[in-house]
Amino acid sequence: MEPIGILKKYQNHFKELKIEENQIISLQEGNTPLIEAKHLDGVLKDVSVYFKVEGMNPTGSFKDRGMTAAVTMAVKEGSKAIICASTGNTSASAAAYAARAGLKCIVLIPEGKIAMGKLAQAIIYGAKVIQIKGNFDDALNMVRECAEPLKLTIVNSINPYRLQGQKTGAFEIVDVLGKAPDYQFMPVGNAGNISAYYMGYEEYFNEKKIEALPKMMGVQAAGAAPIVENRIIEEPETVATAIRIGNPASWKKAVHAANVTGGSIFKVTDEEILKAQKLLASSEGIFAEPASAASLAGLINYSKEHDLKGKKVVCILTGNGLKDPDIVLNQNLSLQKIPVDIKALEKAIAE
Ligand code: F0G
Repeated sequence: MEPIGILKKYQNHFKELKIEENQIISLQEGNTPLIEAKHLDGVLKDVSVYFKVEGMNPTGSFKDRGMTAAVTMAVKEGSKAIICASTGNTSASAAAYAARAGLKCIVLIPEGKIAMGKLAQAIIYGAKVIQIKGNFDDALNMVRECAEPLKLTIVNSINPYRLQGQKTGAFEIVDVLGKAPDYQFMPVGNAGNISAYYMGYEEYFNEKKIEALPKMMGVQAAGAAPIVENRIIEEPETVATAIRIGNPASWKKAVHAANVTGGSIFKVTDEEILKAQKLLASSEGIFAEPASAASLAGLINYSKEHDLKGKKVVCILTGNGLKDPDIVLNQNLSLQKIPVDIKALEKAIAE
């Protein structure tokens, strides 16, 4: 099939937005692989696990699905500039789609707490990058405050078109599997994506394309788990900087998605996240960023206490591992060095 973006691919599901084809701002997002796990038998016996590799999107994360919709609508509605707060991926995506659309883009990021690849992206795509001496939640509050007076369109997931775009991830999973999975595990930060997937599955359910919704399983990092602990976390902390969020904007929607489907929102430790990231890369050949690995870490933990035999499970791998090389390099810096000498090489290989 010709590679096309999600607004065109699923145009029947965007009729209400009244978008003409020539108005679409796209970088051919979507159509990401759904890869079946082959080597996880040791940890997940007799479970059929699939990875939705959202890191294969144009800017390396699922945000592109939402951004094509948000930026297309911003241009359609006459906006000249967009703004977002971000832990990194939203800023990269917003900056790229703004460049594509010829819009100005302003991004607010928490100082020192975003992965280097994401920062590089926002800079090279030409956004105005402003660091906040605070966290994501502070940055989002500032965005909410300044957007209207400065006539800026917010492209965080509180922009309703973002979730509309992101719902297409659910469509693609069903289109490939031929039915809904039994469970879907995914990381939860600002809680937009789990809400979007729920919306997508619900639309397919209403159209009778699926018989049941998957159990929506949201995974937070232990140091940034406001929904799990049912309280705002003033100073969220986790190695998974993408989901270092203490007061998610779509909190209620996420809880609803989990409750209605018989799923839940729970937490995993940083150690479990990093272990899952390594397992995923070294046993399946898929390099996902730490926040994304939270979904696999969550699945592994959950399977220890629940029988998943024979079940079909999808883990959403939300972002590409290349965005955050530091997290790997900081843990593994014992690289071997040898002289230009074949004997030394033979010895090193044998070790
Ligand atoms: N995974 C990755 C890689 C992310 O970048 C994010 C969110 C999430 C998961 C969580 O998704 O917020 O919809 O619950 N990143 C946002 C950002 C906050 O600014 O890039 P969510």
